[in-house]
Amino acid sequence: MSIKTITTTPFSDQKPGTSGLRKSVTVFQQPHYLENFVQSIFDSLEGVQGQTLVVGGDGRFYNRQAIQIILKMAAANGIGRILVGKGGIMSTPAASAVIRQYKAFGGIVLSASHNPGGPNGDFGIKYNITNGGPAPEKITNAIFAKSKTINSYKIFDTEDIDLDKLSVKRIGEMAVEVIDPVEPYARLMESLFDFASIRKLLQGNFKICIDSMHAVTGPYAQDIMEKRLGAPAGTVQNGVPLEDFGGGHPDPNLVYAHDLVEILFGDNAPDFGAASDGDGDRNMILGNNFFVTPSDSLAVLTANATLVPGYKDGLSGVARSMPTSAAVDRVAEKLGIDCYETPTGWKFFGNLLDADKATLCGEESFGTGSNHVREKDGLWAVLFWLNILAVTEKSVEEIVKDHWKTYGRNFYSRHDYEAVASEPANELMDRLRSMTGDLPGKQFGDYTVDYADDFSYTDPVDGSVSQKQGIRIGFTDGSRIVFRLSGTGTKGATLRVYLESYEPDASKHNVDTQVGLKPLIDLAEEIALIRQFTQREKPTVIT
Ligand code: G1P
Ligand code: ZN
Repeated sequence: MSIKTITTTPFSDQKPGTSGLRKSVTVFQQPHYLENFVQSIFDSLEGVQGQTLVVGGDGRFYNRQAIQIILKMAAANGIGRILVGKGGIMSTPAASAVIRQYKAFGGIVLSASHNPGGPNGDFGIKYNITNGGPAPEKITNAIFAKSKTINSYKIFDTEDIDLDKLSVKRIGEMAVEVIDPVEPYARLMESLFDFASIRKLLQGNFKICIDSMHAVTGPYAQDIMEKRLGAPAGTVQNGVPLEDFGGGHPDPNLVYAHDLVEILFGDNAPDFGAASDGDGDRNMILGNNFFVTPSDSLAVLTANATLVPGYKDGLSGVARSMPTSAAVDRVAEKLGIDCYETPTGWKFFGNLLDADKATLCGEESFGTGSNHVREKDGLWAVLFWLNILAVTEKSVEEIVKDHWKTYGRNFYSRHDYEAVASEPANELMDRLRSMTGDLPGKQFGDYTVDYADDFSYTDPVDGSVSQKQGIRIGFTDGSRIVFRLSGTGTKGATLRVYLESYEPDASKHNVDTQVGLKPLIDLAEEIALIRQFTQREKPTVIT
């Protein structure tokens, strides 16, 4: 066993995006590609020597190879101890929980989240800090800077570690502990939710269906739903994690989670359905023939939080990403708590949670979470819903419709144009940016522009500023259109168009979302010339 110093040259494309470095597997398989990035992480972390790190991934193709490389590099870089999930697997929220519970220095999470996997799919890596959350831009920028000048990396020349047995091994001075990735997470869930009430609900006539989409949540959902909460065997479908997610696209939305959608919108549908993504941080909530938009889900959880033991004393505040609908703002206003609007990406919630300015956070992209960890958390959201359903004895649809009656309905939809050509997509954004100054006051049919800008955020805790976070066009009636380019896609560019309008009148709530939003959808086209720039007649995915 010896430490080797390998000479390398920089790759120019290792800038972390919305959630770490995400590329196709073939990019990561290039000699030195992963190693350069991992060395850049270690070189950016002051004081990491001798410390504990957590390593785990969503189990996708290349996860195991990547973990072996990281372990050998960590040992060569003087890390004291690594906690790694059995089989190299740990959901993103579980990794966050383990970092916090073990008071680790940080962690390396291997995931491309909701992107497809397999040899032709995507892979990703990100660094999480001591609070368990994604590294802030200060650190990701430092990692990127290192990656541009790197000329060597250090790695132990030794055999692979057996990741499939719980054990403590050594690479040089460094201890490698293979730990059960489910137990610490399941215990945390038991500390937050009323498992006795949920168990009673699930053992009665209330039927649920959980779709793990052959991704990381399978073992977690089986342990929690079927073992601890006594749901019938088979409640969790597609529960075996596969390296290619069974060929599917592990993104819990109406398009990609179609197996579950068919069940919940079919005859004799269960009362509740939920799906998670590749790394377990996203969730989609369905009722019998009913879809809960993630923005509404955040608002409902906020309004009902005190029904749940872990939140019974109320919330310090809430936060949502800018494109997320303002449904939660109305609840926060009624509760008299602060509501923060952050740029897209979970890393922006970290400071607010640490400073106890927010307790619950959410994004329209099927992400919901709280201060229990520093990542969004799919199964946590499912348990939160089940807890509310158990206490209120209402259906999912009743809960949401009652919510709309109280607060009004924020009609909301996101239209994605995936993998379009990058250059015209950037042109579309540049053009909109240049228009923002002239738009206010302009009239488009019934709509008058109230404000238009490129969203900029000043973190209220550390004062850091993040600019160019998406074009917002707000109208005098409270409607809004937001345009931004994805920071997680790996092919060309993905244009996201977010549409929102507000309807206080309950007699107008039972309208199909796309129908309700039609005037705004047309207006988005008129203003941004989407068809012309994307060369697409319609969006690839509508959520
Ligand atoms: C997408 C979502 C964003 C989420 C991120 C990571 O990022 O829109 O809300 O935080 O994935 O799950 P985007 O591709 O839009 O940059
Ligand atoms: Zn994810």
